[in-house]
Amino acid sequence: MKLVGEIKLPGDKSITHRALMINSISKGKAKISNYLNSEDTNATINILQTLGVSINKNKDEIWITGKGFSGLRKPSTMLDCKNSGTSARLFMGLLSGLDFETILVGDQSLSKRPMFRVCKHLLSLNSNISLSKENFLPAYIFPSKIKASEVFLDISSAQVKSAVMLTALKSNKVTVIHELKKSRNHTEILLKYLGCDIETKGLTIKISGKKELVARDIKIPGDLSSAAFFIVAALIIPKSKIIIKDCSLNPTRTGILTVLKQICAKYKILNIKSSEYEVYGDILIEYTNNLQPFIINNSLIPLLIDEIPILALLATQISGVSYIKDVNELRIKETDRLKAIKVTLSSLGCDIIDVEDGLVIKGKTKLKPNIVDSYNDHRISMMLKIAQLICEEIEIKNDKCDSVSYPGFEKDLNKLLK
Ligand code: S3P
Repeated sequence: MKLVGEIKLPGDKSITHRALMINSISKGKAKISNYLNSEDTNATINILQTLGVSINKNKDEIWITGKGFSGLRKPSTMLDCKNSGTSARLFMGLLSGLDFETILVGDQSLSKRPMFRVCKHLLSLNSNISLSKENFLPAYIFPSKIKASEVFLDISSAQVKSAVMLTALKSNKVTVIHELKKSRNHTEILLKYLGCDIETKGLTIKISGKKELVARDIKIPGDLSSAAFFIVAALIIPKSKIIIKDCSLNPTRTGILTVLKQICAKYKILNIKSSEYEVYGDILIEYTNNLQPFIINNSLIPLLIDEIPILALLATQISGVSYIKDVNELRIKETDRLKAIKVTLSSLGCDIIDVEDGLVIKGKTKLKPNIVDSYNDHRISMMLKIAQLICEEIEIKNDKCDSVSYPGFEKDLNKLLK
């Protein structure tokens, strides 16, 4: 068995959320193509529809009619973000400073994830938000008049940064945001594309709400975080060779390409295209049998934060010691991902030590069969399904959660397996 052939992946999750939200607060009609149709992005669509935005979709496209912030209507129900952290954090920003009250809720896992990290910066822009137990959903967002400010982010989080920008849009003065480390910049790119007065220099963003945004068509490139599962599968299964077409190559997301260089993987980036908003292209990746161990830390982490579970599996299949450092953020993802990676891979016989802020993984390990839990985390579940390709007898509990970010994952994987 090997992975062979060409595949085009569903649209990037982060860009899909933003294309939906930012067009909804702009004026006019827009078509979003190659969007991601998943549980997380559907939570965003349902919330926008509850706020009165006209959204129609078929399998490939979404048509959206925005009427600006003033077109949003007071919802008659609470707004359910389900499992989606991006929806919860970005809506906190989008809904701050409106003239009606909203309540954001989420599922059991999202209700345990910290929200004060967002709220504290929005409060400094005079947003009026109250969180349950001061840190969790439900979030109650009351009317207020947003004031521009200077914001110093104390963690590297694109969700927090985006929430601040979506709040800042309601003031016609300039809000200045200082990032700690560069994180994904899809919000900045889309806001600019739709006419916002926004400027980025290094780690500083200046944004003003004085211009009305105009809705525009967007074609979303494939999700590199989803591609990562196929990339690693091709790297660890002999004789594999695949091409992933039209995949996002936004430099704030391509940390995995730095890892591919470090491990001396056989890969090529082909047909690089740059639209008015995002860079994308094809990734050709081939198996080779002498991969080197890797070290990831510091400012590389935000550029590959969602790929760490699958990179941990990769490390178990490379001879030598790989280090994954500075990843405490993983403790507050859909589950405690550091713990989930350590427990699942250890129970498959891997040599993996968790240090305070990361993991030390010694390979190469022949995986041994066992029953493992995905902890209902989509990225742990998909990582374990790639592990199953090299050890068929692995049994996965709670493996139905891939649909949070990639409903067709198993089908697409099967298309490549020959
Ligand atoms: C996301 C940002 C990241 C990432 C998440 C999606 C986004 O979270 O892990 O899956 O779309 O902004 P943080 O902002 O918490 O790092």
